[in-house]
Amino acid sequence: MDKVVIGDDLGKKLGQELKMPFISFEDRIFNDGEVQPRLAKEEKTKEAILIIQKKQKENINSYLVKYLLLLRKIRDLSQKTIAIMPYLPYSRQDSVFREGEPLSSLYLAELIEKNTDVFLTCNMHEHRKKIRDLFKIPAYNVFLFEEMAEKFKEFSPSNTIVIGPDREAEAFVDNFCRNFPASKLIFEKHRNKETGKVNFIYPENTGDILKGKEVIIVDDIVSTGGTILETAKIIKQFQIKTINFAFVHSIFGDEVIDRLAIIGPKKIIFTNTLENLHYAVDIIKPLARYFLEHNLGGFIDFYEK
Ligand code: R5P
Repeated sequence: MDKVVIGDDLGKKLGQELKMPFISFEDRIFNDGEVQPRLAKEEKTKEAILIIQKKQKENINSYLVKYLLLLRKIRDLSQKTIAIMPYLPYSRQDSVFREGEPLSSLYLAELIEKNTDVFLTCNMHEHRKKIRDLFKIPAYNVFLFEEMAEKFKEFSPSNTIVIGPDREAEAFVDNFCRNFPASKLIFEKHRNKETGKVNFIYPENTGDILKGKEVIIVDDIVSTGGTILETAKIIKQFQIKTINFAFVHSIFGDEVIDRLAIIGPKKIIFTNTLENLHYAVDIIKPLARYFLEHNLGGFIDFYEK
């Protein structure tokens, strides 16, 4: 065999998009929590893509160990491997915030690249470290905000303001506005390292800017929902028309809908980088397009022309 996609349902869809054969795997978890993934078929191949989505109820560390074990297994079967982690865990731990902590994002990248030739992820949290600061192998960060902007095409850009809750979100807002040319507004977020409490700074004339507008808050990750909800609460004080959310990674899957519903959004748009039933943007087509548009370290020869 020349090439294969190995993975879960996302892998199956990616295989179909790239016209590559697909091998699934079986998930097994022992009583003590140890994981034992098992490939449905063992075959030698020149090149393999591994793509796995973290499941809703799955522990993030079980997901990681499973992924790393499969990468190592594939090393014995394939000459080259492309690893796709739609959501890269630990990417927010991109600094030693307090003495004695590990630099987790870097250490995890070191484990991944041991058995990988090319790495791909979606909207990695690139705050203090860029993807190329973490990986020594070719590594790519696929931005999905242009794709997400498609879901707001019934809004008029001239009557919409796109908001980033913090400075780092400006890159997401810019990416979003490439496909939806609305005005932007960027808040500043400050977090107390000890208590985790956040507060926001925004321009004095925010009320005038937002009056009568559709507002879309854009961010990479929603975890507790704290960042996006606190931003929304500030915005709701003003006389806006509607409030909407667009983010890539829903850390708690479908639960996010209930968490954000309390603020009364018109639209909540997110992707399936992590498993959930309510995603509006499927990552497979943009990922497949990215593969075809970029020469991934010579891997372009993979694909059916
Ligand atoms: C932080 O800088 C990120 O971009 C997100 O804003 C943050 O991780 C979201 O987390 P939470 O939903 O817990 O506020």
